[in-house]
Amino acid sequence: MINYVRSEEAVPYVDKKDFCGNNRRVYIETYGCQMNVSDTEIAWSVLQSHGFCQASNIRDSDVILLMTCSIREGAEQKIWNRLNFLKSLKLARQKLRSARLPPVKIGILGCMAERLKTRLLEQHKMVDVVCGPDAYRDLPRLLAITDTGQSAVNVQLSIDETYADISPVRTDANMTSAFVSIMRGCNNMCSYCIVPFTRGRERSRPVDSIVEEVKRLSDEGYKEVTLLGQNVNSYRDTSALSFPAVRPSSSSSSSSCAHLSAGFHTVYRHQSGGLRFADLLSRVADVNPQMRVRFTSPHPKDFPDDLLYVIRDKSNVCRHIHLPAQSGSTRVLSAMRRGYTADAYNDLVSHIRHIIPDVSLSSDFIAGFCGETESDHEMTLDLIRRVKYNFVYCFPYSMRQKTRAAHHLVDDVSCDVKRRRHEELVDTFRLCSLQLNQSLIGQHRVVLIDQVSKRSVDAMAGRTESNVRVIVPQAQIPTSSSSSSLRYIQPGDYVVAQIKDATSQVMTGTVLHHTTLTGDTPS
Ligand code: SAH
Ligand code: SF4
Ligand code: F3S
Repeated sequence: MINYVRSEEAVPYVDKKDFCGNNRRVYIETYGCQMNVSDTEIAWSVLQSHGFCQASNIRDSDVILLMTCSIREGAEQKIWNRLNFLKSLKLARQKLRSARLPPVKIGILGCMAERLKTRLLEQHKMVDVVCGPDAYRDLPRLLAITDTGQSAVNVQLSIDETYADISPVRTDANMTSAFVSIMRGCNNMCSYCIVPFTRGRERSRPVDSIVEEVKRLSDEGYKEVTLLGQNVNSYRDTSALSFPAVRPSSSSSSSSCAHLSAGFHTVYRHQSGGLRFADLLSRVADVNPQMRVRFTSPHPKDFPDDLLYVIRDKSNVCRHIHLPAQSGSTRVLSAMRRGYTADAYNDLVSHIRHIIPDVSLSSDFIAGFCGETESDHEMTLDLIRRVKYNFVYCFPYSMRQKTRAAHHLVDDVSCDVKRRRHEELVDTFRLCSLQLNQSLIGQHRVVLIDQVSKRSVDAMAGRTESNVRVIVPQAQIPTSSSSSSLRYIQPGDYVVAQIKDATSQVMTGTVLHHTTLTGDTPS
């Protein structure tokens, strides 16, 4: 029987003063999606404000935290393997007790903590702390409890935690691009997906706190923000319902589906009023016209025209939309409970391209979902060919306990078939993106440089508006198209590149001159 303390239990012997880290060194390893990267930055903020500091490497740390993912079986298997390694590290440290080193504490944070809860402690005796995605404020207390020799768990999900008041500690050396969390959780309950169980109900962070964070990033010199959430375009800030609506259409929705894209429906009841994603995007774009704005991940159901107009009309909002389809077969989409048919998705793509002709699209697909036939799979391949996405993420279906698919459907596509279909999806997408990228040869593109190229110190790397990587040679180039003064390229610069060559993943170019997002005036 494991002795652990639950979040709701009073712990008389742990006083607030014990929450202090006393400069203990913490090492955090992050797995999973960008939300986890963002949550790691929040955890750092909580820990640093309580006197913990960052360890330079894992062997040199007093506390090791794994920010985990549960989306597929493989994601969790990685963590179990890592825990076996950490066990050896912890035991080695115990042998060094003579050197008076305190024992290493191991914590599991994030989605796997939420999914497995106390089972993690039972299955792996080395784990001291289990902390779910809505409990990071509690980390110092949980770690203090472990000092009393007990394990500690807080996996309470919240209906309103957005960490709005916490300034993330950005650990990425890249000072060009930052992610800003705008909402948490998901109400969609797609039948295959564990996220609604690990991240809880959807809730949005107030607009003002987001705009403030973006202003701070702009002042610090960041040139790109990506608004982040599991369903960014379901965003709805109702925290101050006295807000005047920015656009009448965005605030008039009722519990009907009037504001959803045509042909889309949801399984949950809608809130009404408040500020919607189009309003937020517009306000974020206005912070600094020289700052690119992206967002991920949206759901295809929430693309009202006013949102498409913001993407079209604000020159710094990238005309690139991630539009996860999951499948090209209506039958499979229905089993997935995605809330749309293949026709509705196709119509949405046409409508988006009608309003924003030069938009680029990317998507997610699952290979081998329950009951998927060869002909369903062919429909997905066909969708990829027709839409010509410039990037696609494909995943073999992985059954997750607790989900509707696990309860009601049969995981009947064999591993070999899943693997083969997965490969076919990837190959088909690669061919399309190769053609797309090669069609740009000779054309000019604005590239936001973000780093020295990993291939060569004499080259710089950046991304186009469509989010395709471009490598250009380092050089002194004119500060604008009409200037004779020259300057080397640095991370954070916008440059005009002429595309010379392309693979499905990356393009190379020659670089012509520096530029800005609002034209060519030198900064
Ligand atoms: N909320 C986002 C992202 C969710 S997770 C969205 O809906 O787009 C990212 C992707 O993982 C999903 O889009 C889906 O393609 C994939 N995914 C989720 N659950 C999965 C499962 N059980 N097996 C395989 N892939 C899965
Ligand atoms: Fe999962 Fe669907 Fe929610 Fe995305 S929208 S997180 S796939 S339940
Ligand atoms: Fe994984 Fe949780 Fe993200 S399950 S994909 S880390 S929301």
